[in-house]
Amino acid sequence: MASHQHPPPGAFHNRKFSINRNTGIPRPARRFSIQEPSTTEASSKIHRKFREAHEGHLPHAGLDATRSSTGVIWCSEQAGEHGFFEEPEKWANLGQGAPEVDDEIEGCFPRPQHLDISVNSREYGPTAGIKPLREAVAHLYNEMHRQGKESKYTWENVAIVPGGRAGLIRIAAVLNNAYVGFFIPDYTAYNEMLSLFKNFAAIPVPLSEEDDYHIHPEKIAEEIARGTSVIITSNPRNPTGRVVANPELAEIQDICRERATLVSDEFYSGYNYTSNCDGTTISAAENVQDVDEDDVLIIDGLTKRFRLPGWRVAWILGPKEFIKAIGSCGSYLDGGTNVPFQEAAIPMLDPTLVKAEMKALQRHFCDKRDFVVGRLREIGFSIKLVPDSTFYLWLNLEWLPGPISDGLNFFQACLEEKVIVVPGIFFDLNPSRRRDLFDSPCHHFVRLSYGPTLDILARGCDGIERVVRKFQALEADGAYGVPKAPSPSRTEGEKESHTVPSAGGGEREKDEELHLL
Ligand SMILES: Cc1ncc(COP(=O)(O)O)c(C=O)c1O
Repeated sequence: MASHQHPPPGAFHNRKFSINRNTGIPRPARRFSIQEPSTTEASSKIHRKFREAHEGHLPHAGLDATRSSTGVIWCSEQAGEHGFFEEPEKWANLGQGAPEVDDEIEGCFPRPQHLDISVNSREYGPTAGIKPLREAVAHLYNEMHRQGKESKYTWENVAIVPGGRAGLIRIAAVLNNAYVGFFIPDYTAYNEMLSLFKNFAAIPVPLSEEDDYHIHPEKIAEEIARGTSVIITSNPRNPTGRVVANPELAEIQDICRERATLVSDEFYSGYNYTSNCDGTTISAAENVQDVDEDDVLIIDGLTKRFRLPGWRVAWILGPKEFIKAIGSCGSYLDGGTNVPFQEAAIPMLDPTLVKAEMKALQRHFCDKRDFVVGRLREIGFSIKLVPDSTFYLWLNLEWLPGPISDGLNFFQACLEEKVIVVPGIFFDLNPSRRRDLFDSPCHHFVRLSYGPTLDILARGCDGIERVVRKFQALEADGAYGVPKAPSPSRTEGEKESHTVPSAGGGEREKDEELHLL
């Protein structure tokens, strides 16, 4: 029985020793002390146990490597061990949430290839961003979402930040002592961001798979009723590809008004396929009544919908007082966004240009979505609801043969075929690791990105097909000796072994993999 060969599930919980990433072998706990342990101490089991568990015994003094990366980065590292970095052109990276960046998309404007760097831009820029760009952002939102409304955004309602994550961190830094509600599944980086700061307590709100991960307005009302005063969500939603649009979005904002701050992460606002690809973007800005009174913080940037993830230019819109604090905290957090790229961003935000750009973007990505959904359905995946936004598919693996019916094992099997996906469990956000994720409802999912170009998507789908066929053939041969997993919940076998086939064909403890996140 596997349970006799492996430590029981949970045996590594709260383990403080580390693993050598190259060999996979646990490193002995190092002792940061000026004295060697006494003989009594060295031969005492209880002392050894204490030392292994004690915070002070870390691989390097002062280092907590577990705080260093998100699940998506971890996936790239695993792919690196399979040779991804040597020959990336032979791989299909459907893991990283990045859009294709070439100037190939019909109807999209060509990105600048050279920047005119003014002498002025050598100086430190303002940590809230340069005024002309703040004005351009405000103008864009007024034109796109606030036509005919009395209250309009001005430059004082906008802070420019060095990318989305830096913006999220800035927001987290200025939050009050509050309960911050977040939904699961959601964007992996919220995990780290929600555990970095001690000024608020993060409260998970699970969404249900049966309900297609819908955020119902009543859910928000319930959260506020129990004392939550800040709510953060991506919308359109990573990883499920669902969007909360009007009238429901307006209803949610009405519920929040005067009671809670809504942080609306709109990084996928342009990837909206609900309006016939006419270029309409989804934004909470539409329903704000008074830009200085409604506690709505909107975050977006050049990263996704302008397909410039390398530029690191993003923005936050909100009430002046909030923006003042968010702008100022950049002086100790990140120092602000680089000035030349801010200057280069200004002409891109012309509303007419943006509208045409969004139209072209939506048509192109909608076609890619349809291609991938079609291929996956051919392979046998059942995709009940085709996502209406973003460039992600949240794929259910339950129907697959047992050994690849969960996200970690499927991810591992895909690596063998040079395809990267992200195990669903990484989106089951668990800030500060307060929950045990062994029973995660995201366990039987992976997130697949159709951000890359069509040829890469085709290669990725072919790789996924090979994985499925290989394991189906093995199953048909009776290679597993056990019936196929009957339900979404873990099988007894899984509960006992928690094993993931390693690159070398051996087996590693799943818990060990997770611990390295
Ligand atoms: C929902 C969401 N918000 C923000 C970001 C971060 O954007 P950036 O790369 O600019 O930090 C991402 C990136 O994946 C995202 O998915």
